[in-house]
Formats: sequence, C-alpha cells, structure tokens
Amino acid sequence: MVLVTGATGLVGSHLLMELVRSGQPVRALHRMESDLERVRNLFAWTDPALEGAWGQIDWFEADISDIPALEAAFEGVEKVFHCAGYISFDPADRSLLQKVNFEGTRNVVNTCLAFGVRRLCHVSSIATIGGHGMPVTEEDPWDPARTNVYSTSKYLAEMEAWRGSQEGLETVIVNPGVILGTGQYEEGSGRLFEAVHRGLRYYPPGATGFVTVGDVVRAMCGLMESGHSGERYILVNENLTYRELLGRIARAFGRKPPSRTLRFWQFHLLRSLDWIRSMLTGSKRKLTGAGIRGLRDPKEYVNGKILDALPGYRYEDLNAVINACIRHFRESRSEA
Ligand SMILES: NC(=O)c1ccc[n+]([C@@H]2O[C@H](COP(=O)([O-])OP(=O)(O)OC[C@H]3O[C@@H](n4cnc5c(N)ncnc54)[C@H](OP(=O)(O)O)[C@@H]3O)[C@@H](O)[C@H]2O)c1
Repeated sequence: MVLVTGATGLVGSHLLMELVRSGQPVRALHRMESDLERVRNLFAWTDPALEGAWGQIDWFEADISDIPALEAAFEGVEKVFHCAGYISFDPADRSLLQKVNFEGTRNVVNTCLAFGVRRLCHVSSIATIGGHGMPVTEEDPWDPARTNVYSTSKYLAEMEAWRGSQEGLETVIVNPGVILGTGQYEEGSGRLFEAVHRGLRYYPPGATGFVTVGDVVRAMCGLMESGHSGERYILVNENLTYRELLGRIARAFGRKPPSRTLRFWQFHLLRSLDWIRSMLTGSKRKLTGAGIRGLRDPKEYVNGKILDALPGYRYEDLNAVINACIRHFRESRSEA
C-alpha cells in the first residue's frame, strides 16, 4: 500500500492521479474540512477515465499533527509520499508553519520508522537551499541569514527527513521551484493566474525557478521506483524572471503583459498598506520584509541531477502547462 499525505493539495492530487493510473493501491490522507469534491472534479477534468478510478482510493481522515490518527493510517503501508504542508510567508503564521511543516514531518517520519515503512519521498522546496551569485545546486546549504518563516519551517522539515534517512528509512527528497499546474487559483502558486487574469500592469523584480506539477509527480514516482536514497533533487524546469513568467501567462490569457517594474520603494509602501489591511481585516499579509529582500536576490537553479538519476526523465513544456491551467481556470470559473 502507498500512502499520500496532503492528497487534496496541488502536488498530492496530481500524484494521486499518477498512482491511480499505474494501478497501485493508494491510501490518501485528508482532513475533516478538506474539499474532496474539488479533487474529484480535477480528476474528471483531467481525464474522464480517472473519475471511474476514484473508488479505488482509500480516503483516510488524519491530520499530520494527530499521532494516533497517523498510526491508524499507516497500517500495512510500504511507501509514503509526504506532500502535506502549509504555505504562508506571513510572520503571524510562524507557529502554524512550525506545527504543520516541521512537527508534522517529524510525526510522519517517526510513524514511518515505527511501522517499518520501506521508502519515504519528502516534498521539500528550493526555499531550503542557499547559494549566492552562482547557479544553485543541491550541495548549497540553507542560509539562515536570508530566510523567512516558510523557508525556516521547510528547512526544519527537511532535517527531519534526513534524520529518518540516518535512522534507516530509505528517503528521497525533492526540492521543487514554484509549482505550476491545474488546481486552485485562490491560493498558493495558482494565485499568479488569478492576478494576471484580473489585470497586472506591474511586475516584481527578481527571478526564480519554476516547474510543472507533472514534472514534480513524475520525478517523485520515478525516484520511489528507483534504488536511489539519501539524496535530494532540485526540480526546476526553467529559471525565469517574474517579468518573463507573468508575460507568458498574460499572453496565454490574450492580455497585455505587465510592462512596468515595481521599484523597491513602491514595494515598501505597499508592504505598509498590506500590513494595515491585515491589521484591520485579519487577512494574511502578502508582502513581508523577508519576501522583498528575497526579490533582491534572484536565483538560478541547476536542474540536471534528476536527469542523471532517472534515465528517460524529461521536463515537460512549461508553456503547454500554462495553457492547460488557463483552460482549466476559465472552465472552472464558468461552471461556478
Ligand atoms: N506550490 C508550490 O509552488 C510549492 C513549491 C515548492 C514546494 N512546495 C511544497 O510542496 C508541498 C505540497 O504543496 P502544494 O502546493 O500541494 O500545497 P497545497 O496545494 O496548499 O496543499 C497542501 C496539502 O497539505 C494538506 N495539509 C495542510 N495541513 C495539514 C495538516 N495539518 N494535516 C494534514 N494535511 C495537511 C492540505 O490539506 P487540506 O486540503 O485539508 O487543506 C493539502 O492537501 C508542500 O510541502 C509545499 O511546501 C510547494
């Protein structure tokens, strides 16, 4: 039995589709409040044949903070894909990030060890890798001087996965860049589509690595089938400036690409307004000092280790995935 945590999320839901297609018995963790209908709709939208396979999935309710529930979920499990995580850059979410990403991963690793799970695939992030000025590789250590609440929690989570590896659990770690794929557009990386759709005149400075959810899922499945363990793999399809990426999304929507750069003084002004809005409405902060500092530090990621590890692995066409996201975005809006 294969177990997937975070099965309702962007990575988890696409991984489920891949596992179901390959005919593997899958147990999928969800929480009481998880939106399973959204995942089912994504299955049907992606491939109507997959909807018929929905009944093959053993959905199991467990929060990764709840150790007894996790223990019940791990009965008979041989391989674990740990995709559950919380993504926020708001310093007010520090303790929730620690609880879900760090403590939750510790619980998953400990339960794997206690139940004799053979292999773990942990979804980390490029946020746990440092490097300045030079193309970044898997060897570059995390830099505690250039961090934010999210990357700290993901770094600590990755340390838990490494501990599991030291204690005998066969572990592979993937470090994806910003993940693009069909799913939801109100949260996470999907918000890029929502923002461009609403009309963006400005783009932020900076650059980072982008990857498709399909690339992430194929790497995870390939690594779990392989004999590799005790290694981490950067998953970045293309290194792009935000201007390039937002421009591609805008053109695919048939809109004018954002053409003006946001200056750092404008960012700091917006950050103050964002803070006031957050204080008045209780909404999440979207702009933080650490986030703005990160934009001053554009990174380029070396993406070849996974190509060497998995013969035949190729990154897919990022533009084709952007087009698929836009079709899905439009169709899910017109249905709503
Ligand atoms: N998206 C990106 O661009 C990106 C880039 C690099 C790395 N990552 C990492 O990839 C992983 C998956 O990200 P994603 O984009 O798929 O995130 P997502 O769409 O926000 O999904 C997060 C998943 O985690 C589950 N979850 C959250 N808290 C939980 C808890 N306490 N117990 C059990 N499940 C919990 C959520 O369940 P509910 O449905 O119940 O909320 C959901 O299934 C995360 O570890 C993230 O840090 C993401």
